[in-house]
Amino acid sequence: MIAIAAEKPDQREAVLNLNRAAFGGDDEVGIIERLSEAGLVKASLVACEADLIVGHILFSTLDVAVDGRRPRVAALAPLAVHPEYQNRGIGSRLTEAGIAAMREAGHDAIIVLGHPAFYRRFGFAHETVAHIASPFSEHEAFMGLELTPSALKGCGGTCRYPAAFGIPEDALQR
Ligand SMILES: CC(C)(COP(=O)(O)OP(=O)(O)OC[C@H]1O[C@@H](n2cnc3c(N)ncnc32)[C@H](O)[C@@H]1OP(=O)(O)O)[C@@H](O)C(=O)NCCC(=O)NCCS
Repeated sequence: MIAIAAEKPDQREAVLNLNRAAFGGDDEVGIIERLSEAGLVKASLVACEADLIVGHILFSTLDVAVDGRRPRVAALAPLAVHPEYQNRGIGSRLTEAGIAAMREAGHDAIIVLGHPAFYRRFGFAHETVAHIASPFSEHEAFMGLELTPSALKGCGGTCRYPAAFGIPEDALQR
């Protein structure tokens, strides 16, 4: 049985190892460590089978402005499921639990850069954020989900990723 819960402090090493296994490298490990050091983590959830961590999802604060408004937006990244446990619904359960946690915490929206075929099923859409300038505005993978109706609606805006993501802060694109 798979249980979803908030990451505990003594699970960090296992979370990092899981991300290494899922992504085949250290890029996401660096992002998790830098987001944590910068105090930007909003939620970090793990999926466990007994004592084994088999999935992980993290949400962090994202600096978004739309038509002069400042909605409370969380970035969803990374999401990882251990290769031996993929395609069993764990990534979906983590995503649903994370969306619920962000809604409960009072966030207005979530933005993700990910596989459209996976995230569309939860309501994420590129059209929701296509008018917001970011390094990824032109890409279908740049998607948003509104938790407060019309939170991201507008004529224009900006989405600035913190340095923790390793993206140049001035790399905005329309
Ligand atoms: C993407 C990932 C988190 C999905 O987790 P999961 O537990 O396997 O997902 P679920 O079992 O809940 O859902 C499986 C569905 O996701 C789809 N999916 C899995 N990987 C996908 C990908 N790279 N692109 C598009 N869809 C993908 C499957 O095709 C499947 O679709 P179906 O339900 O229509 O058959 C997992 O495969 C993973 O960790 N991949 C490596 C790391 C990664 O790419 N993470 C970034 C996510 S943006």
